[in-house]
Amino acid sequence: MATKPYVRLVKTSELDRLAVVQRRAFLRDPEFNYFGSVKTPLSQEVDGAEKRHLEVFFKFLNKACLKCGARITVAVAPTEAGEVICASTTWLPPRNRISLGRTWVLLRSGLFQTLKAWGLNGLLRVGIEYGDVSEKALKEAFAAKGIKESPNTSWYLQLACTDPDMQGQGYMSLLCREAFEFAPSSTFTLEATTVHSRERYAHFGFELFKELRLGKGKVNKDGLPAKGPDAEGVLVYSMVKVSTF
Ligand SMILES: CC(C)(COP(=O)(O)OP(=O)(O)OC[C@H]1O[C@@H](n2cnc3c(N)ncnc32)[C@H](O)[C@@H]1OP(=O)(O)O)[C@@H](O)C(=O)NCCC(=O)NCCS
Repeated sequence: MATKPYVRLVKTSELDRLAVVQRRAFLRDPEFNYFGSVKTPLSQEVDGAEKRHLEVFFKFLNKACLKCGARITVAVAPTEAGEVICASTTWLPPRNRISLGRTWVLLRSGLFQTLKAWGLNGLLRVGIEYGDVSEKALKEAFAAKGIKESPNTSWYLQLACTDPDMQGQGYMSLLCREAFEFAPSSTFTLEATTVHSRERYAHFGFELFKELRLGKGKVNKDGLPAKGPDAEGVLVYSMVKVSTF
């Protein structure tokens, strides 16, 4: 039996527990504030509808990603009471992407619950607006680097997080290094949603290609409703780690 934290694939029986870790990690993330039309900053201590909606979305995303062939890995720490999920990464393998076009998969994964939680606005923001800017930037990045293949041939990091109480302890390093070993000589792509994560991804060898802006004219830099010059939108960072082989 393991005595140290280690990386393994998530079990389907753990998806709800995983959604709690993800909700905790992204509770104040500007991009998710924007997707969820959050009005005021959420707090770990106070319960509320917007907080529950975020968890509904992650449950949906986890199921949909698994059905689309994602490799969801978790870093777990063994304790006397069982294994604790400390961090997770959701990698979409080459030619496996999640999109609104995969309607049947999305319906079976809880699309309606997310629609009820976030409304059509939320779904359009995450499914169309975000999907479009992400895809366009990665195409530009590949062209700029002279890579002939489509970005769809890369391993795409759909989601990554560490529980806030366990950040800075090397869990994301464990997960990323495992992924790089699992798919050596591959190209990896992602969008970082904060400067904090962007710096850590840069440390793993990801290059910043472009800054993308979502929700301009609607939200401020924290993803909360704003008007006028404050409504600058949230920044997202398109990053690529090119195969060195
Ligand atoms: C971003 C996040 C995933 C990082 O997870 P973490 O478990 O705290 O990260 P780690 O402790 O494994 O640190 C990762 C690496 O960054 C390095 N690092 C620490 N501070 C750094 C800095 N300022 N600049 C660059 N690298 C830094 C660490 O040393 C470590 O590398 P090492 O193993 O070579 O020493 C976590 O902060 C998080 O969940 N944030 C909220 C959700 C989020 O933003 N997710 C990513 C967006 S998709």
